[in-house]
Amino acid sequence: MKTYKIAAMGGDGIGPEVVRAGVQVLNVCAERDGGFKMEFTGFDWGSDYYRKHGVMMPADGADQLRKFDAILFGAVGAPDIPDHITLWGLRLAICQPLDQYANVRPTRILPGITSPLRNVSGPELDWVIVRENSEGEYSGVGGRVHQGLPEEVATDVSIMTRPGVTRIMRFAFKLAQSRPRKLLTVVTKSNAQRHAMVMWDEIAAEVAKEFPDVTWDKMLVDAMTMRMTMRPQTLDTIVATNLHADILSDLAAALAGSLGIAPTANLNPERKTPSMFEPIHGSAFDITGKGIANPVATFWTAAMMLEHLGEKPATDRLMKAVERVTANKSLHTPDLGGKATTKQVTDAVCDALRSAND
Ligand code: IPM
Ligand code: MG
Repeated sequence: MKTYKIAAMGGDGIGPEVVRAGVQVLNVCAERDGGFKMEFTGFDWGSDYYRKHGVMMPADGADQLRKFDAILFGAVGAPDIPDHITLWGLRLAICQPLDQYANVRPTRILPGITSPLRNVSGPELDWVIVRENSEGEYSGVGGRVHQGLPEEVATDVSIMTRPGVTRIMRFAFKLAQSRPRKLLTVVTKSNAQRHAMVMWDEIAAEVAKEFPDVTWDKMLVDAMTMRMTMRPQTLDTIVATNLHADILSDLAAALAGSLGIAPTANLNPERKTPSMFEPIHGSAFDITGKGIANPVATFWTAAMMLEHLGEKPATDRLMKAVERVTANKSLHTPDLGGKATTKQVTDAVCDALRSAND
């Protein structure tokens, strides 16, 4: 029987709570499927590790992860450590060396969940945002000199490369092609940023020629926020730069009812390195340790992981179980206006998996 080796890394805040719930559910998925097993190895990297060792993870951290089939990640960030240290010390220190260049963020309204949009009941909003995950505004290029002096200078340089843009466009077009509507929107800001973003647009048009069956259009990022809100049904697959997609995916999650359900995958599509799967929500210190974190984002994330591993029936079974649970409002956690606990939701998903009749 196939055994998948999974690195389980809770990280900070509610991360360990939701990853624990994810591991529990994935074990039931494997048991229920009968065709594969999961072997989890825990990692205690994150802000507590930083307080003890002065680093978020060991120097060879990313290399230690190479031998796994996938990584299940919780969250990173602590109130007493600057965010740029925690982010660059852990998440980006894994994504970048493992070249997880395609960040995929599906958004749809799960049964039982209400969109804040008046005219949206569900089917009108079904998107996948593809976030460039290796360069752009998050390249880490820049510097700061003369700190604190009147002449202080600081730069963050957004780097776009032809190979970097080409590969994310190809990935996005291919994903759009695999979805029923075959529709892609390329987000840009080439009216104001006249170098890299113009190249971004040009490469999109070049790659589009390889996908004649995909309908595509271009949208300025500011206008995109309006379109997502006013005409959500006109969108399907969306590709955007690292920062643009970061911002748009929070909007997408809110429009779909809660950040507590939004999943993401950091993929190396060529599978040369393990991919990393994480809920979008972050560490949420206000509710850490209270047992009320919404584990649904992690379950959806776990489903994306199963899909990446090639376990399609288990993926579908898990999503169906999650949807059965979200449809029941008494199983909503406080972020969705309910009173349920992480444990109640997790147990309910496990029960739904066990009683699934497919
Ligand atoms: C995300 C998050 C991160 C990001 C934060 C935690 C730095 O917002 O994954 O969307 O900006 O990439
Ligand atoms: Mg974000």
